[in-house]
Order: sequence, then structure tokens, then C-alpha cells
Amino acid sequence: MLRFVNYSTHFGVSEQFVVILQFDYKNPKDMAQKEDVFKKIVSHAKEYGFVFPSSEIYDGLGAVYDYGQNGVELKNNIKRYWWEAMTLLHENIVGIDSAVFMHPTIWKASGHVDAFNDPLIDNRDSKKRYRADVLIEDEIAKIDDKIDKEIAKARKRFGDSFDEAMFRQTNPRVLEHQAKRDALHARFEKAMNANDLAELKQIIVDQEIADPISGTRNWTDVRQFNLMFKTQMGSSSDSTMDVYLRPETAQGIFVNFLNVQKTGRMRIPFGIAQIGKAFRNEIVARQFIFRMREFEQMEMQFFVRPGEELRWFEYWKEHRLRWHKALGLGDEKYRFHDHEKLAHYANAATDIEFQMPFGFKEVEGIHSRTNFDLSQHEKFSGKKIQYFDPELNQSYTPFVIETSIGVDRMFLSVLCSSYEEQVLEGGDSRVVLHLPKVLAPVKCAILPLVRKDGMPEKAHEIMQMLKFDFACQYDEKDSVGKRYRRHDAIGTPYCITVDGQTVEDNTVTLRDRDTMQQVRVAIDELPAIIGRECSLNTLLRKLS
Ligand code: GAP
Repeated sequence: MLRFVNYSTHFGVSEQFVVILQFDYKNPKDMAQKEDVFKKIVSHAKEYGFVFPSSEIYDGLGAVYDYGQNGVELKNNIKRYWWEAMTLLHENIVGIDSAVFMHPTIWKASGHVDAFNDPLIDNRDSKKRYRADVLIEDEIAKIDDKIDKEIAKARKRFGDSFDEAMFRQTNPRVLEHQAKRDALHARFEKAMNANDLAELKQIIVDQEIADPISGTRNWTDVRQFNLMFKTQMGSSSDSTMDVYLRPETAQGIFVNFLNVQKTGRMRIPFGIAQIGKAFRNEIVARQFIFRMREFEQMEMQFFVRPGEELRWFEYWKEHRLRWHKALGLGDEKYRFHDHEKLAHYANAATDIEFQMPFGFKEVEGIHSRTNFDLSQHEKFSGKKIQYFDPELNQSYTPFVIETSIGVDRMFLSVLCSSYEEQVLEGGDSRVVLHLPKVLAPVKCAILPLVRKDGMPEKAHEIMQMLKFDFACQYDEKDSVGKRYRRHDAIGTPYCITVDGQTVEDNTVTLRDRDTMQQVRVAIDELPAIIGRECSLNTLLRKLS
């Protein structure tokens, strides 16, 4: 997409007549570039201190990442937005911070020891391990691609008169692909539902699926693989006990239900929120920080009366989507994916999906988990876990609505939708992160035009005034144009430039990251202007 914008210049920095290049993920031409864009985003994240591969000097560790100086600030801002939206805006939601290690029986009760599995298969030649279901899903996606290509070709040939629905119903090649796809999908779904590992292997054999690395079809049988990391706790060999690194934070909330309810005198309906690390030994870890082995979750369990759970499920569906949309990343980038196949303990479930460069992907899950978890913990611990409802004058096991969002996936969705490459008039270019201003790691950069004539001193004075409320950075190195580019690249919403006039009349130029427009404002006005755009308060008010 091309857009022409006319802006004023300042200090001789060429920011006039900007050609903006953006990627439209629905356009097939742009789609071809999507992988390229994603690679660029990953390297930008590293170059500008957002995300580094873990243990890089030792050649990295699969699907584990570290957050750098800018990444940690962005991540903390996301977490603060979630935490305050939960605990400040809802009088009946409180937070906890439970331990990563928990009694191993918790994972028996929750079902994770027996059922938190992925079907895996190894290729004997490449010695690589794959998820059998992912290999088959990729095969289905290949057939979908073939259908899409036929449609794209026909659209090009017929132009405006092209009727896609009619073409799908009548074109023999599309019909043939579709029939193959439907048959494969039905067979796959049946095997997954029946947990039939032999049939999954047979599908891989029948479809002649080859290992992408070795190119061979020399497959082992399909086996179940538990995703939990196990370690030992205790100092002597006879007192050690196997413990797990938690694969979700939710169980820490369930086992503290009574503690919080009693000490907080909480009355149903109420919620318990928690942010913390979770660990899964993912077989196929890919797409950067989308699927990691160590990641962070923000989970909230909302306890309600039995029979009222579906009403609350609808409430949280709507409320959580509003939380996402308030950030302004683009309403069209979100969609719900309601689960047709429900876990045995759930009576409703949906995902909030976000349009990543590699397609719509789950960022958050909202689940109506019935009273399964509390009942299981009651059974396995032998302790009564019930709530006495004073209004109904009866005790019951509360039902639960869970909202569960991955911090890292949220981070990735913010990063991907903010990244833009712009070519400026005159051949200059910039990469800019249009981060939601409230989430930006640095809110304003304070830049003395030159390192003399009282400008650095004035800039330091401004820094002293602003730093208690906003993350500020003082930067005097290089030309002001280069400093603008550096701050565009990390998404700093405002650059405050101190020049000769500042020393005379206490005004500065304030440059907006997105429009590159510069306005002259009094120093005294800065806190109000920056606060209006960058404060979490403004964003939270949109939600209530
Ligand atoms: N307590 C429910 C639960 O854990 P889930 O769908 O397995 O549900 C919830 O996970 C969220 O955690 C997902 O929507 C996703 O954002 C995040 N998540 C799950 N596995 C992840 C992984 N391997 N890497 C990064 N984020 C992950």
C-alpha cells in the first residue's frame, strides 16, 4: 500500500513527503513477502534490545529466549495493563503469586500427568522429532494452498466478474482437491478424538509424508509424549521426590482457592489473577516467541455459582476482546475461534486469535471449566473445597471461567502489528515501531541539539522534571536525525529537542513518532501532553 504524507521539516532532517510501505496480509502479492517481514521483525527485535536467543554465545537453546533492555520494559507494560485491568477495575478480583514448584499430586489431580501429551514421531534418518498431528495438519494446509492458488489464478483471469463461490462449486480441480482435503481431515479428526496413535502413523504413511529435512519416509511409530518438565526435589537419595515445572499457572490458583476466599472474605462471584512463568517441553517449537519452552502466562480464574457459568463466559469473552481492542492494533486483526471439540471438563471454550504474519493464531483462551479442577483437588487432597453461599444458604463447589493469555504471544502480536518500514522522500528510510504509546519502553527522548551553549544542562533539567512519571532517555550522541531514527526503531512516541531558543524562552520542539510532525511547546506543557497519550490511566478508562 502506498500513502503520501506531507510534513514540515526541522533542523534540516528530511522528513518531508513520505512514502509509506505497509504489508496487507490479505493481498496474495504481499503474502509472498510475509515470511520475509517476519524474519525482519525477529532480527529487529534482536538488534534493538527487545528479544535475544537464550544462551547465544553457546549457540542458543531451542525455543528459549531472553528479553533485552527494551523488551523487558514492553513486557512489563503489557503485564501492568493486564494486572491493573483485572485487579483495579474489578473490585472482586484479587491477585496472587504462587510458586512454580507444587506438590506432584496436583498434576495427577489436574490430569496433566496422564493426559498432557502430544503424539510424537521420529524420522530415523534425520533423527528429528515431529508432532504427528502437526505433520498431518501441514499436509492439509498444503491442499488448502493448492485450492487458494487455483482461486488466485482464476481471479486474475476473470477480474471483477470473478465469482469465487461459484468457482469453488464447479471447478473440477478445486473439487478434487476439496474432496481429498475433506476426507483427510475427517480421518485425522477421528484418529485424534479416539487417541488412535496407530491410525495417525497410517495416515502419515498413506499420505506419503516425507521428513522435510532428510526427505525420507523412514518413520518410527507414533508415541505419546508428556510435555511437563520433571526434576527432583530433596537433598538425600531416599528423600528425593519427582516434581514438575508447572505447565500452567492456573493450578496455583485452584489450590489457593480457600486461602484467598477465607482470608480475603471474598464472596462469589470473584476472581483470582496471577502472572507467572510456565514450562512446556514443546516437541515442535517454532515461530520465534510464539511457541516457547519457558513462557509467561496471565491467568484469571473467576468463581461463580453453578448454572451461572455460561452467562459469565459470555461476559469474559466480550470483556477480554475489549481489552485487546482498546490498544488500537486494529479491530480487524482479532477473531474468536469457538472450540467445537471440548475438553471433557469444559462446557464452553473459545480462543481469541490475532492476525500474525503467519496467519490467525491463538493469543488467549477463555474456558468454562465447570467445577472440574476444584472437585479433583477435593478428591485427591481429601480436603473439603466448598463455598458457603450466604444468599442461597447452601454450600457448593464453585464453577470456574478461566481467561488465560500468554504474555509472550501478546508481546509478539504488539511487535508484529507495530513494525513498519518507510521510505522517505530523497531516498532516506526508517523502520518505525508504532507501539501503543502506553506500552512503549521509552516514552520520551530528550535531545540537546548540540553539546554546548547550555543545551545539555537544559535537557537534563527537563529530564529531572519528567523522569518521575515517564520512562525518559537522555541522548546527545550523533546528529539529531540519527537520534530520531534510533527512537523510531524502538517505538519512542515523543522526541523532545532542546535548541538555542529553548535556552531563551523555555520552549522545545516535540516530535511525534507516527506523524513526524514537530510542534513548539512550552516545557511546562510537556507533562500534560505526554501524560494524556502515554498514561495507563487513559487506557484503563476506555475499559470501564
Ligand atoms: N490454563 C489454561 C491454559 O494453560 P493453554 O491454551 O494451554 O491454556 C493459554 O494456554 C495461553 O498460554 C495460550 O493462549 C498462549 O497464549 C499461551 N501459551 C501456551 N503455550 C505456549 C507456549 N509454548 N509458548 C508461548 N505461549 C504459550
